[in-house]
Amino acid sequence: MNLKKPHLSFVCLLILLSNVVSVYSQGSAATDAAVMQELKKQIINPNSLNWNDPDPCKWDKVQCTKDGRVIRIQIGDQGLKGSLPSNINTLSELQVFEVQRNTFTGPLPSFSGLNSLQSILLNGNGFTAIPNDFFQGMTNLQSVYLDSNPFSSWTVPESLKSATSLQIFSAYYANITGKIPDFFGGNTFSSLTTLHLSFNNLEGPLPSSFSGSSIQSLWLNGIKGKLNGSIDVIQNMTRLTQLWFSDNEFTGPLPDFSGLTQLQDCNLRDNRFTGPVPDSLVNLPSLKVVNLTNNILQGPTPQFPSSVLVDMLDNTNSFCLSQPGPCDSRVSTLLDVVKDVGYPTELAENWMGNDPCSRWLGITCDGGNITVLNFQKSGLTGTISPNLSSITSIQRLILADNSLTGTIPNELTLLPNLTELDVSNNQLYGKIPQFKSSVVVKTEGNVNIGKDKPPTSAPGNTFKQM
Ligand SMILES: *[C@@H]1O[C@H](CO)[C@@H](O)[C@H](O)[C@H]1NC(C)=O
Ligand SMILES: *[C@@H]1O[C@H](CO)[C@@H](O)[C@H](O)[C@H]1NC(C)=O
Ligand SMILES: *[C@@H]1O[C@H](CO)[C@@H](O)[C@H](O)[C@H]1NC(C)=O
Ligand SMILES: *[C@@H]1O[C@H](CO)[C@@H](O)[C@H](O)[C@H]1NC(C)=O
Ligand SMILES: *[C@@H]1O[C@H](CO)[C@@H](O)[C@H](O)[C@H]1NC(C)=O
Ligand SMILES: *[C@@H]1O[C@H](CO)[C@@H](O)[C@H](O)[C@H]1NC(C)=O
Ligand SMILES: *[C@@H]1O[C@H](CO)[C@@H](O)[C@H](O)[C@H]1NC(C)=O
Repeated sequence: MNLKKPHLSFVCLLILLSNVVSVYSQGSAATDAAVMQELKKQIINPNSLNWNDPDPCKWDKVQCTKDGRVIRIQIGDQGLKGSLPSNINTLSELQVFEVQRNTFTGPLPSFSGLNSLQSILLNGNGFTAIPNDFFQGMTNLQSVYLDSNPFSSWTVPESLKSATSLQIFSAYYANITGKIPDFFGGNTFSSLTTLHLSFNNLEGPLPSSFSGSSIQSLWLNGIKGKLNGSIDVIQNMTRLTQLWFSDNEFTGPLPDFSGLTQLQDCNLRDNRFTGPVPDSLVNLPSLKVVNLTNNILQGPTPQFPSSVLVDMLDNTNSFCLSQPGPCDSRVSTLLDVVKDVGYPTELAENWMGNDPCSRWLGITCDGGNITVLNFQKSGLTGTISPNLSSITSIQRLILADNSLTGTIPNELTLLPNLTELDVSNNQLYGKIPQFKSSVVVKTEGNVNIGKDKPPTSAPGNTFKQM
């Protein structure tokens, strides 16, 4: 048809125009070819590619549909230099784009709107920035590799969420900042098996959305990484085979590993984990490699089966003995006591060796008997352990000025030599147990002490307890 023919009706012109518009927005063989020529032009050393035919669909490492639409560009590992054309996202049928391990530089163009794209490999280049709309509309995306590029700092944009079939997201050494986005959990990406975010500038906690996720290989190891908080959520990541958390600031006890029946490779070194190594890890049948060096782990030195490769250098934790074997009974009891307050870091750092009477923080002894436990103003959260009743030599128990919750255990009345119990200024509730009259009990500053239960919701409920 010739647009210039005067007899063309207005309606017909409109239809034609709308076709032109839709062909343009969906791309065409002709626009694809133009983008390919532009790509070739922006490669400084294209000769090795042998891209000489006028028709890009006949080029090596390029694949088209029968009607000339480009669906695959696979030019990884070709020693190429140059940059990518800014209109690359007009290749609207593109499914696979691979330029990994070349020397491409400059900012990445947007790939937004490429809703057929399944796999994109950009790793190992010199790309300097990633646009915020990069993932917009990539509804079929399955694999992303962005590792080892000198990006200016960025955060993984929310728009990635539209890639609901995502299986692999790999972006280590990619200058990502901020928190690990919640959407990497199982609710958004039910098929995600690989999440590699090592060597970025991530900080903050593991997202609770990781609970129940299908991730198998999780790399979050850092270089002076700032990921912190507890790793409890991994006890619900039962598909994990590989867990690399080294070089961060994670704290608290190791969780129960018994549900992680596929876990082979567990790297927890160079963090601030406290508490004993759980039997559920030591006896995990699938385990092949474990790294525990440089933490503040307590209790007995774990003895892994000989089939497990163990990285646990001597004197880089707070185990009671350098060889496997049970701790002194006073140490075991104290560890059971601090379990209920989450094995505080300060105590784990200070409680070295197997003798609590060797000037351990908070502990006073007479001969070899613990007579005073003083954890005043120690930032304790959690509850008062009934195991305290096993330390029968205690005379003074000072737990004042913390954030302890729960009740005062009745077991404490069994301590034969107790003279003072100070739990003032906490958040305890419940009846005060019946101590001997010789015991001075200080409970002021606990709003709900003496009440059966702490108020469940609004303060308006308190009248029920009166
Ligand atoms: C990371 O991003 C920051 C800020 O954009 C930049 O100063 C730094 O050089 C980048 N780091 C790397 C390794 O590219
Ligand atoms: C984690 O680090 C952030 C700063 O990055 C800090 O504000 C937060 O209190 C830390 N959380 C824990 C549990 O240590
Ligand atoms: C583990 O999953 C259970 C069941 O969904 C949930 O109740 C619990 O809070 C989860 N624990 C953690 C640490 O995420
Ligand atoms: C973890 O331990 C294994 C076995 O000792 C070792 O081969 C590996 O290099 C260690 N990984 C790190 C990051 O230290
Ligand atoms: C601590 O109390 C628990 C529960 O009563 C008990 O199983 C455990 O043996 C106690 N630990 C010690 C060291 O007495
Ligand atoms: C330590 O306690 C035991 C009883 O548990 C007692 O026989 C011993 O005399 C006590 N030692 C000191 C120095 O008080
Ligand atoms: C209680 O104190 C008495 C007197 O100091 C001491 O002889 C006894 O061993 C103590 N009991 C315990 C269980 O430590």
